[in-house]
Amino acid sequence: MMKPFLTTSHGVLYDADCLDVLKRMKPEVIDTVFADPPFNIGKDYKNGYNDKVDRDAYLAWCRTWIHECCRVLKPGGAFFIYATPELAIQFASIMEEKLNFRHWIALTMKGTYPRGKKLYPAHYALLYYTRGTPRVFNKVRLPIEKCRHCGKEIRDYGGHRNKMNAQGVNLTDFWTDTSPNRHAKFKVRPGVNELKLMIPERAILISTQPCDIVLDPFGGGGSTYQAAEKLHRHWIGVELHDSAHIKNRLQESYSLFPVEHEPFQFEDLFDHEDKQNPVLRGIERKDMSARPGTSVS
Ligand SMILES: C[S@@+](CC[C@H](N)C(=O)[O-])C[C@H]1O[C@@H](n2cnc3c(N)ncnc32)[C@H](O)[C@@H]1O
Repeated sequence: MMKPFLTTSHGVLYDADCLDVLKRMKPEVIDTVFADPPFNIGKDYKNGYNDKVDRDAYLAWCRTWIHECCRVLKPGGAFFIYATPELAIQFASIMEEKLNFRHWIALTMKGTYPRGKKLYPAHYALLYYTRGTPRVFNKVRLPIEKCRHCGKEIRDYGGHRNKMNAQGVNLTDFWTDTSPNRHAKFKVRPGVNELKLMIPERAILISTQPCDIVLDPFGGGGSTYQAAEKLHRHWIGVELHDSAHIKNRLQESYSLFPVEHEPFQFEDLFDHEDKQNPVLRGIERKDMSARPGTSVS
């Protein structure tokens, strides 16, 4: 088994190629996969990563990691991929081979501009598939919208405001509150397109219960891992470059709290052969416990 870069009471992070980690994992051990892959658009991640390779080679690589993620997903598990619409249609056709379509969630994207003979790109896609019937589907509610200035409610819901659920309105497949991305000065790692925490957070809330296991094969700034810690889900993460940024982020948020429950037994996710080998294991466990009592909103 590979030596983790970091373990917390909830999760484990590998500084490795996600395919190396995925291939060592047992089948059907993950409840939700959340993936925000590199888009092959020549982005400078400032870590030496080559984000512009031949398109066919890129799509072939995507097919491999998507299939691997499907393999480790439990029946009823959920798989989310965040992508531009152009890539999302390619990813969706791969996911269709193994999974069941749930939603194409559109997330508004501001601050772009139209290029050439094209419309103004105004959304990203968050593909949401499940392996068969979803094992978990939690209805997420958003607070009723209020005016930022006067604090009064903005809509009267066609005169049916008094019949509304006190906990708010049902989340739709059109998310208008997710843009813009984190401002550069708040990013954990320079150069990374770090998602707003609420994006992986919502995916996790929709599709898991506490202590379920979330996998994100492309760590970046670690948004998914922070969301999982916050919501008391177990997580497994991988980042090919600069994992130290993720460690710092989690340490800042979670290191001061005492461990309140059994640590995540991540070794159980890997093939037995690796697990038995004490040299390959070589794990120095350094628990960073997670924050207790996070509420679901
Ligand atoms: C778009 S970023 C992910 C951002 C992340 N969702 C966040 O909110 O911070 C994609 C990341 O994948 C990493 N990456 C690229 N290829 C990888 C691979 N084969 N295995 C693991 N990570 C990889 C890149 O270094 C980059 O940090």
